[in-house]
Amino acid sequence: TVESIPLPKGFESRTPPYEKLINNLTKVKRVLNNQPLTLAEKILYAHLVNPEELPSTTSQIRGQQYLKLNPDRVAMQDASAQMALLQFMTCGMPSTAVPGSIHCDHLIVGKSGAESDLKSSIATNKEVFDFLQSCGEKYGIQFWGPGSGIIHQIVLENFSVPGLMMLGTDSHTPNAGGLGAIAIGVGGADAVDALTGTPWELKAPKVLGVKLTGTLNGWTSPKDIITHLAGLLTVRGGTGYIVEYFGEGVETLSCTGMATVCNMGAEIGATTSTFPMQDAHYRYLQATGRGPIAEVAKMVNSKYGYMTADEGAEYDQIVEIDLNTLEPSVNGPFTPDLSTPISQLGDTTIKNGWPETVSAGLIGSCTNSSYQDMSRAASIIRQAEDAGLKPKIPFFVTPGSEQIRATIERDGLISTFERNGAVVLANACGPCIGQWDRGDNAPKDTNVIFTSFNRNFRARNDGNRDTMNFLTSPDIVTAMIYSGDMSFNPLTDSVKLPNGGEFRFKPPTGDELPDEGFIAGRKEFYPELEPKPKPEVQVNVSPDSDRLQLLTPFEKWNGEELKTNVLVKVEGKCTTDHISAAGVWLKYKGHLENISNNTLIGAQNKETGEVNRVYDFNGDAYGIPELMIKWKEEHRPWCVVAEHNYGEGSAREHAALSPKFLGGQMILVKSFARIHETNLKKQGMLPLTFADESDYDRVSSCDLLETVGLKELIEKRGDNGGSLTVKVTKRNGETFEIQTKHTMSEDQVDFFVAGSAINFIGASKSA
Ligand code: F3S
Repeated sequence: TVESIPLPKGFESRTPPYEKLINNLTKVKRVLNNQPLTLAEKILYAHLVNPEELPSTTSQIRGQQYLKLNPDRVAMQDASAQMALLQFMTCGMPSTAVPGSIHCDHLIVGKSGAESDLKSSIATNKEVFDFLQSCGEKYGIQFWGPGSGIIHQIVLENFSVPGLMMLGTDSHTPNAGGLGAIAIGVGGADAVDALTGTPWELKAPKVLGVKLTGTLNGWTSPKDIITHLAGLLTVRGGTGYIVEYFGEGVETLSCTGMATVCNMGAEIGATTSTFPMQDAHYRYLQATGRGPIAEVAKMVNSKYGYMTADEGAEYDQIVEIDLNTLEPSVNGPFTPDLSTPISQLGDTTIKNGWPETVSAGLIGSCTNSSYQDMSRAASIIRQAEDAGLKPKIPFFVTPGSEQIRATIERDGLISTFERNGAVVLANACGPCIGQWDRGDNAPKDTNVIFTSFNRNFRARNDGNRDTMNFLTSPDIVTAMIYSGDMSFNPLTDSVKLPNGGEFRFKPPTGDELPDEGFIAGRKEFYPELEPKPKPEVQVNVSPDSDRLQLLTPFEKWNGEELKTNVLVKVEGKCTTDHISAAGVWLKYKGHLENISNNTLIGAQNKETGEVNRVYDFNGDAYGIPELMIKWKEEHRPWCVVAEHNYGEGSAREHAALSPKFLGGQMILVKSFARIHETNLKKQGMLPLTFADESDYDRVSSCDLLETVGLKELIEKRGDNGGSLTVKVTKRNGETFEIQTKHTMSEDQVDFFVAGSAINFIGASKSA
């Protein structure tokens, strides 16, 4: 047993329970005979419910063992929080089992500037914000209202701490790994596990080590580490892994820079990413008013080595990146792993026939709105201003939080931006999540934007499927607004001055942290730090609302083999944006019936090449959700067949809820993205993968797919993964069997049988 590690006064709910975690880790070490552990393993295993039940070697755990974990806290953004809380409400608990926070950021449109945008978005979404606020009050969850900031920035400033384990209902939750936490993006039903104190289950990830050597210099910034890595590993390369950074290059990064790197680990499909505890973490904790937590964390690390990997720890894979020679890169369009070094962008643009001009530049968002990012961008603008240059294209700045906004306002950065034509948007997601209103002059067709955001799927920013978003550092975006030309390389090229002369930028400079410290800004944006539950608060959901709808539990499994018809055979990339579009649909996040009208509307039909077009048995054409509704009314269960990395992208659980709500039972694909596969299981769907990928070609729309042996699989309680036969009956009567694989754990079998995880948890809480 370790000596007592008291939680610092006033910071109790924001400090990980270090004493318990170190005790747990000691038990784990005993079971594993002191095998060296990576940092990721230490934090995960320290959160095990039953550390004694681990197998005795790490190779028997990683990639194989389901872990039952007790996360320390939960964060939820407004769009996903609605469904998470509607599900939590069905469990009938008076308060949450761990601290939680709600963040109103996704529902705020970016158009003409913070003040007016915030006002109109609050008016449009009042019912939803009121619902979230009343849930927060009733159950004792912190409520960060509209305009307070973006979930991941607020988590970094307030809650992330080395050694913490948290869940967040957003795929970029791993941002908190920049401060040495294990933070995992999940669907609302997983969040409910943690909120109800039900052990949360995760298949133990493998660990991918990224060794950083050298030092970033000149134009290269932390963003380039992850855009380069995405190019190397692709959108599937991190699937099933936690990415753990190490090497002397780590010591040269700021805490917020590490957060940017972890944030976009989601783009390579990683479970999460993390960094070992550094002096930069200590400095950031001090600067954000958490000095007492910094002291305890430092002590825990130096005494127990909890926040660093053990000497000799083994990684399943290692990638090395030399920061000395790293070049800024630009990733896109339409996929974050299409990485082009800035020096090759001009040629690549011509080769691919991309537009040669850029229509807008946007910096900020949850990925890149740190003080360091903003001060480097401002240094570029000041150079241009001094030389007499004016931006050629519209420029938008999204601060990540009120603290960042107020601090950069005090330090003159906001006035520098605005003096040079920038529109400073609300502290919210806006253009990063399809909530960008470009006004009457919005390009209707193909156009290029440069952003410092993290994701660039079609329609992700302004709702236009042909807007090509190139992801890069705030430095490159900012320099680009003075050229607007895809062939411009600010590292080597000059821009024409109004007087005919030539101007060349010097590399940007910035401060890791503000010299005069952060200021909080407007008080009204800050919630009570330790809210107590108020059971007397009424949470109102009007039956007439088109924004919110109480949930009706899904039906239990009927005990029979599944018999499903293929409603659509999807071709190519099918992300959660394709399955459950954002943008205008965000307003229905709390109303399952209404939002389900967007199900798979972005999917491409393999057989016809059409988007959102499918055909009934008699050849009649329908939109995908329309045919789902029709088949549901006809009591015809259906399935979807698709290709690789199905459900790539986000933790959006509507991508699982809506298909289930509309009568789907099974999704059969070449491979899944991790969060989405889990979300499907949580909603009682059966996710299967082809054992032989070429069987995808043998299945067609309207074919009947019947499971053979599902009952045995359920009786064997899933067997922690295995195979399942599916009998295919073609429309001409021909039949054959194909082999599929499943990854159902014992608990997930319970969810399937109960109809959903929430049905199962609700029953166990009321038992
Ligand atoms: Fe918001 Fe997610 Fe972008 S949190 S800022 S939408 S990546």
